[in-house]
Amino acid sequence: MSCSCFGSSSLRQKRHGKHANELNQDEEGVSIVKTKNFSYSALVGATNNFHRSNKIGRGGFGTVYKGVLKNKREVAVKVLSAESKQGEREFMTEIDTISNVKHPNLVELLGCCVYQHNRILVYEYLENSSIDRALMGSQRSIKLDWGKRSAICMGTARGLAYLHEEVVPHIVHRDIKASNILLDENFHPKIGDFGLAKLFPDDITHISTKIAGTTGYLAPEYVLGGQLTMKADVYSFGVLTLEVVSGRSSGNTNYGGGQKLLVEWAWELYEEGKLLDLVDTELEEFPKDEVVRHMKVALFCTQATASRRPLMSQVIKMLSRNVKLNETQLTPPVFFEDSGRQSGKSSKNKLSETSASHQMSSFPITITEVAPR
Ligand SMILES: Nc1ncnc2c1ncn2[C@@H]1O[C@H](COP(=O)(O)OP(=O)(O)O)[C@@H](O)[C@H]1O
Ligand SMILES: [Mg+2]
Repeated sequence: MSCSCFGSSSLRQKRHGKHANELNQDEEGVSIVKTKNFSYSALVGATNNFHRSNKIGRGGFGTVYKGVLKNKREVAVKVLSAESKQGEREFMTEIDTISNVKHPNLVELLGCCVYQHNRILVYEYLENSSIDRALMGSQRSIKLDWGKRSAICMGTARGLAYLHEEVVPHIVHRDIKASNILLDENFHPKIGDFGLAKLFPDDITHISTKIAGTTGYLAPEYVLGGQLTMKADVYSFGVLTLEVVSGRSSGNTNYGGGQKLLVEWAWELYEEGKLLDLVDTELEEFPKDEVVRHMKVALFCTQATASRRPLMSQVIKMLSRNVKLNETQLTPPVFFEDSGRQSGKSSKNKLSETSASHQMSSFPITITEVAPR
């Protein structure tokens, strides 16, 4: 069966002007990789009829099964919630955004399947699942040493920088979090789950949108005003980095003797000069300077005012060793009293209302300085 529903995607038509399941050359002769169309029976065969024992994950929008294709290739098969409009939207969004992008730090979409009411996406299979499993919860299956953790931060930053600054139109992921960062056999990270992503034309500074995403990772201007920019992904990346360093979840928990978000606790420790208290106790050996640098970069990313947060290309530089962070430019995150309410704890923390419209401008020159040799 052909994916005739693809024709209804105006975005896809605008971008490529062709049917999604064609493998083709565009007018300029540039090869465009289009999505392969899998038959339903091939996916039934690959997943042992979507057997329970093949289930490897479940998120908000679908169930993911491990499968092995006839040619022995291992795949991850995501079956989207069939009846919901949301499922249909997710399906189209993932195809529109990632079928045309390729990067070592982005999960590869191998194809899709439309059969009756089923909407199925087929990805490369990643051996080490998502980083939430490796990092958090009682059943930590994998030991992540510092080398692996810093590579996870850097790889995720590279994937995001590519989406934000290289792909045209730019892409905002909107759901950067531990369960959406997958790890391959060598623990290299790949960003997955593009179901909420938005394409972002160059001449637009921000999009007003209904809020989607996961509490604990959401930028304040997005939660409070529905204003989406790439800086919302930068914020989520900062939260994720704190999770990777601390092995703790971003959500509201009893940190440092009170109900607060991981970000708030990290800021408190920063002000007290005790950032190392945040480090995962599972980490036996680690270079203190480098770990502290990662936490400080995370704090630059989670500043209340979106325009003060660095671009992802700057984050890559800031994470590497040869720049000095200019901490005089670092301002606090927003403090929430309880889910969704902004606290007036400090006037410094008040969210700038205009912050979201300066999406690509930041404080690029002063955030980092070249370190003296
Ligand atoms: N390609 C993959 N390889 C291995 N595991 C995967 C893969 N894709 C998803 N998973 C697992 O399934 C979970 C849910 O997948 P995700 O794409 O995030 O779906 P949802 O849109 O439902 O959140 C992930 O958190 C991960 O544990
Ligand atoms: Mg997910």
